[in-house]
Amino acid sequence: MPDITWVNGKMGELATAQVPLLDRGYLFGDGVYEVIRVYRGRPFALSDHLERLERSASGIRLQIPLSRAGLESLILGLIDQAGYSEASAYLQITRGVSTRQHAFPADVKPGMILFVSALVPLGGEQWERGIKVVTLPDDRWAHCHIKSVNLLPNVLAKQRAHEQGAYEAVLVRENGRVSEGSSSNVFLVKDGVLKTPPLDGHILAGVTRKFALAVAQKEAYPVREEEVLLRDLRQADEVFLTSTTMELLPVTLLDEARIGTGVAGPVTRSLYQAFRGVI
Ligand code: PDD
Repeated sequence: MPDITWVNGKMGELATAQVPLLDRGYLFGDGVYEVIRVYRGRPFALSDHLERLERSASGIRLQIPLSRAGLESLILGLIDQAGYSEASAYLQITRGVSTRQHAFPADVKPGMILFVSALVPLGGEQWERGIKVVTLPDDRWAHCHIKSVNLLPNVLAKQRAHEQGAYEAVLVRENGRVSEGSSSNVFLVKDGVLKTPPLDGHILAGVTRKFALAVAQKEAYPVREEEVLLRDLRQADEVFLTSTTMELLPVTLLDEARIGTGVAGPVTRSLYQAFRGVI
């Protein structure tokens, strides 16, 4: 019998089950999950798993669509139906389906899937000989130069920015170094010199960033790709963001402090005109 699955209330076969393309779990990694071991047809430590699920969901401010009792009966029911003695149950909840935007969409309904798969218990040889491991640096997820769909931290940052009445979050590392926006790159202008953080793995190599640098050079502005500190941003004459969707966008308020004169500055304006010219 093929493995069964439960997807947003519908039963189906695991091999052919589908979730919508616009599900935020797929587009942003915006979801949480649990894997529960089944021994002799019964889930092990189910309440521990459900407690952790609740903590995880609350950590990303996701509403679990069922009560604890509702989840338990769903999981027990599917384990029964699957009929496996030794199995694992996989449960995933995402923020649901909406047009693509980083911040939480209004009125979105969480998505939920559950499936039960047969499991061959480890044993025999692994126990006879033990297993080999290797050590690796724990750099989860420090590879910001990779345009990965693991965007949950960016999603949470954008949401916090929106809740504070801001358009974007500028991300600052523990040492006060500015990296980039949650979905954009950051530039400042000070005394006619343009500065933006370097491509050192802490930021995405934005395509718009590259064009902004090119037009700046063409317009004969001195350009420096070097470390930007939060205090440099605060003391800048102008700050702007770049991205495919924002193009070049002036920043005039940083937290509650005004940047420069509080309106789009002359360098930002001239670079934007030059950028439009390239387009
Ligand atoms: N984001 N940094 C991050 C983390 C981004 O997600 C993006 C773009 C950029 C700017 O890159 P580019 O200039 O190539 O668009 C920088 C896109 C627009 C998004 O996720 O919607």
